[in-house]
Amino acid sequence: MTNDRISALRKAVEASPDDVLLRLILAETLVAADETDSALDEYVVLLDQHGLPADQFVPVGELAAANGRLALLRSCLEAARQAGVVEGTGRLQQLVDEMISERSGVRVKVGPEDEAVVESDTVKETTTFDQVGGMDEIKRVIHRMVILPLSRPELYSKYGRRSGGGVMLYGPPGCGKTLLARATAGECGLPFVNVRIEDVMDPYLGVSERNLHAAFERARANAPCVLFLDELDALAFARHKHGGSESRRLVDVLLQELDAIGSENEGLLVLAATNAPWDVDEAMLRPGRFDRVIFVPPPDEPARADILSVVLKDVPTTGVDLKSLAGQTPMFSGADLRALVERGVDRVIDEALTSGGEPPLSMQHLSAALPTVKPSTLDWLHRVRSYIEFANQSERYDDVAEYLRSKDIRRRLS
Ligand SMILES: Nc1ncnc2c1ncn2[C@@H]1O[C@H](COP(=O)(O)OP(=O)(O)O)[C@@H](O)[C@H]1O
Ligand SMILES: [Mg+2]
Repeated sequence: MTNDRISALRKAVEASPDDVLLRLILAETLVAADETDSALDEYVVLLDQHGLPADQFVPVGELAAANGRLALLRSCLEAARQAGVVEGTGRLQQLVDEMISERSGVRVKVGPEDEAVVESDTVKETTTFDQVGGMDEIKRVIHRMVILPLSRPELYSKYGRRSGGGVMLYGPPGCGKTLLARATAGECGLPFVNVRIEDVMDPYLGVSERNLHAAFERARANAPCVLFLDELDALAFARHKHGGSESRRLVDVLLQELDAIGSENEGLLVLAATNAPWDVDEAMLRPGRFDRVIFVPPPDEPARADILSVVLKDVPTTGVDLKSLAGQTPMFSGADLRALVERGVDRVIDEALTSGGEPPLSMQHLSAALPTVKPSTLDWLHRVRSYIEFANQSERYDDVAEYLRSKDIRRRLS
């Protein structure tokens, strides 16, 4: 019943994407049906369209906060402030503060630690492609797109091929985007400057923009290096129509910094990653910015075996059948596989404590741990599929569409 209603509403919204009332009803129906993530996606569009009534800014912001959507939460707060909403904005601000400090863990920014951070920037990254399991094709693409232009610039200028522009990695969480970015720096023999969202975002007006600029300055001072923007969706949140707003200014600063690359930022290679490409402002993807976009899918079976061998490299094992384990872990992310091994190792430690000795990790330990780890990529794939089907964003997700068409994946998602 509800499902019929939702798909009918979706079709109607698709036919009249500018009808904000219709979209609002869809969003509310999705909330009622517990499809919160999809509902929040509609609220993102509604905010863009100025279609969200002012009395909804606070409740939608709270819903966004409860579901880990920092960017949307910030936008609701801003919209509430702009609309002069008083009641509840304090609470939203508090939620923003909480989410930011949660993401930054317990890191306290004091003098000596800051220095340590800057110093580590100048150190060449040591992670290499060997430490990234699977992804043979992606490694090849990165080699051609990123590493070759850096090491053989003459080849590119000879053919009149620009080597500037950034690379954006996107895909489900835990599948190795951050790891791959780090390893790219390692393969180039360059320092890796990691700009995390919690290093940039600040609740005080204007401070986030200053922090972002400072991150680029720091990277320039360390050039040549790889500058990595993690969680690009939060920095470059799509808010096309909210001119002059807070997150718009952050997007503008990022655009300015990116556009300066190539003119003055020689030796700065910019990589970015996101689990939520649909939240990234279109302007980020124009030529000279993040004009190369790479889908990092969940690892297939051979890739899973490869990841397991990377994760198990320093663990004493006996009789572990990687191929069989890879066969039993469909749709597991690299992070899920690591969790599986960690749970298995917990069992080994329990055994060592009760029976003494130092038993190696075996298939029994891993098989016992297997039911406790669930594949975490399915939610993401369901979501991206609905984007492709309903949001008319198919051309942006060609690689994903092709991936979803494979028979095996279709079966797993149905
Ligand atoms: N391809 C991979 N090879 C080896 N380890 C991986 C791989 N993918 C994920 N992992 C493990 O999972 C962890 C989380 O991966 P991460 O790169 O942070 O994922 P993402 O950035 O895509 O969310 C990594 O630190 C690593 O331990
Ligand atoms: Mg990551």
